[in-house]
Amino acid sequence: MRRSVFAGVGAYLPERVMTNAELARMVDTSDEWIVERSGIRERRIAAAGEKTSDLALKAAQAALDQAGLEADALDLIVLATATPDETFPATACAVQAGLGMSRGFAFDVQAVCSGFVFALATADNFIKAGQADTALVIGAETFSRILDWKDRGTCVLFGDGAGATVLRAQDGAGTAADRGILKTALHSDGSKHDLLYVDGGPSATGTVGQLRMQGREVFKHAVGNLSAVVGETLAGTGLGVQDIDWVVPHQANLRILDGTARKLGLPREKMVVTVDRHGNTSAASVPLALAEAVGDGRIQPGQVVMMEAMGGGFTWGAALARW
Ligand code: ACO
Repeated sequence: MRRSVFAGVGAYLPERVMTNAELARMVDTSDEWIVERSGIRERRIAAAGEKTSDLALKAAQAALDQAGLEADALDLIVLATATPDETFPATACAVQAGLGMSRGFAFDVQAVCSGFVFALATADNFIKAGQADTALVIGAETFSRILDWKDRGTCVLFGDGAGATVLRAQDGAGTAADRGILKTALHSDGSKHDLLYVDGGPSATGTVGQLRMQGREVFKHAVGNLSAVVGETLAGTGLGVQDIDWVVPHQANLRILDGTARKLGLPREKMVVTVDRHGNTSAASVPLALAEAVGDGRIQPGQVVMMEAMGGGFTWGAALARW
């Protein structure tokens, strides 16, 4: 069986840093409240005119450079975003053009904060089916554009950024050389719409809309769903929680990360944490954290990595890989 092996990772964060102190001058909040409830200290905000595709393109180029590949080596781009440049065409097509990729196909996936895991599973399945050999998987967001900057319950939690990975087909499943994505598991529950949504859209209102969230209710579902999907992803692989070297979680909130680690019986040190500096970057958060932990040498070849995420929809999922 073919596996999708990670050949490169890349990341890009906008230059502008927004601190909690700055937010405290905009809404009735404090650094102390934000840090205690979320673990977030600062986030990045895209510059005026800086689009989701601009962030995505920089992360994509970095991932391709690390893989040592030209854009035309790609068969497929899957880009996860809930904040596309335009209603259509797909932001993935803007990245395809920006990279100068003259072949293959590109499309977007929309699963909000779970988007990268959904996009990874999608690309992995194209590779396993033999319809692509080399794929670029991107998570990129400009959530700053859909926040209600007067709503202290949401505007303090999110940030902008992009991360990308290159996957390449490799035979070797069942052998000593077995690497790459071992298993993915995806879920959604559309009945939870009202807990986390954007109150606009081309068909519903003809506007872009702003993010609305019942934070406490989202929180209640997060730890249970995430720990369950990690267990489901491990099942049947011959690996257990004790075999995981690194969890690369969606960076929504430090308390959700801690709660999930506790519920799984996993040492907190095995969780890659970036939420303190990035905030919640939705679909970008997992590849941003992945790029950081690969870049600083924490994640090493052969190690077992579990990625997991949950977001609006609800959607949730996980991907297990041997690096
Ligand atoms: N600063 C100060 N006070 C605030 C702020 C703020 N920024 N935001 C809310 N409050 C107040 C509320 O008004 C409330 O006041 P009240 O008691 O007088 O009514 C009080 O703080 C408590 O509010 P809660 O919402 O109950 O606070 P909670 O402890 O649940 O923390 C939080 C809020 C941080 C949003 C938490 O619920 C959370 O993290 N939820 C998960 C949200 C999340 O991670 N979403 C993303 C996951 S899915 C995705 O990534 C898209």
